[in-house]
Amino acid sequence: MNPLMLDGGAATERRPVIVALDFADAAQTLAFVRGLSPQLCRLKIGKELFTATGPALVEQLITQGFDVFLDLKYHDIPNTVAQACKAAAQMGVWLADMHAGGGRRMMEAAAEAVANVRERPKLLGVTVLTSMTAADLHELGWTGEPQELVRRWAALAKDSGLDGVVCSAQEAALLRQDLGADFLLVTPGIRLADDAGGDDQRRVMTPENALAAGADYLVMGRPITRAADPVAVLRGINQATAAA
Ligand code: C5P
Repeated sequence: MNPLMLDGGAATERRPVIVALDFADAAQTLAFVRGLSPQLCRLKIGKELFTATGPALVEQLITQGFDVFLDLKYHDIPNTVAQACKAAAQMGVWLADMHAGGGRRMMEAAAEAVANVRERPKLLGVTVLTSMTAADLHELGWTGEPQELVRRWAALAKDSGLDGVVCSAQEAALLRQDLGADFLLVTPGIRLADDAGGDDQRRVMTPENALAAGADYLVMGRPITRAADPVAVLRGINQATAAA
C-alpha cells in the first residue's frame, strides 16, 4: 500500500516517516514536536514515554493534528489485549501494535474489539524483535531460521485480521511478496546514507531503499530527534522519496 493513497494528498505529499518520540517526559517531547507539523511526519509514542506521561500527551498530539502510533506491543490473554486495543482506539490513535506471538485468538479478539470504533486504528503485529538472534530463539525452543518465524507469524497476523506488521526493512521485500500489496509494513532501523553509524542499530537501511523494498512507513528516532535541523531532514526524506 502506498502512503500517498492513504493520505489522499498530492503526489508530492508523501510523508512516510513516523518519528519515534523516545524522550523521557512531556516537556522535552512537546519542545521537540513544536518544530514539526502533521504535513511533515507522523509520531510514535512507546513504552517509556507512555508510562511516564499516560494518555494525556497522546491526546494532546492528536489534537494538534498528528497521526499517532501507540507502540505498546501488547502481549496478554485475548480479552486483556482486546480491551487495551479498544482503549487505544478510543484515544484516537492511528496505529497500535501487539506481539504476534500472542497467537491467533489474541489477534482476532483485538481486531474484533476495534471493528466498530468510528475511526478504527490500524492494528499491527510485531513478529520477531530485531534484537533477537538465532541463538536467542534456539534457547526459547525455535530451531529454525529467524526469518522462517517472521514469515510464519506475519502470515498469521494477516490471517487473524491485523492490518500489518512491524518488521525489519531487510524482511520487507519477502513479506511484501508473501502477503500482498494491502498489508502494512512498518520498518524501524532506518539510517540516512550519510549517517556516521556507531549506535545500537545494526541491520539498517536508507529510507529510499526501505521504501523500494516494500515498506509503507519508516520508524525513525535518532536520525531525526538528534539532528541539528529535524525539519530539514524530514523535508529531505519526503522530497527524495516523492521523487523515487
Ligand atoms: O533511534 P532509532 O531510529 O533507532 O529508533 C527506532 C525506534 O524504533 C525506537 O523507538 C525503537 O524502540 C523502535 N523499534 C526498533 N526495532 C524494532 C521495533 C521498534 O528499533 N524491532
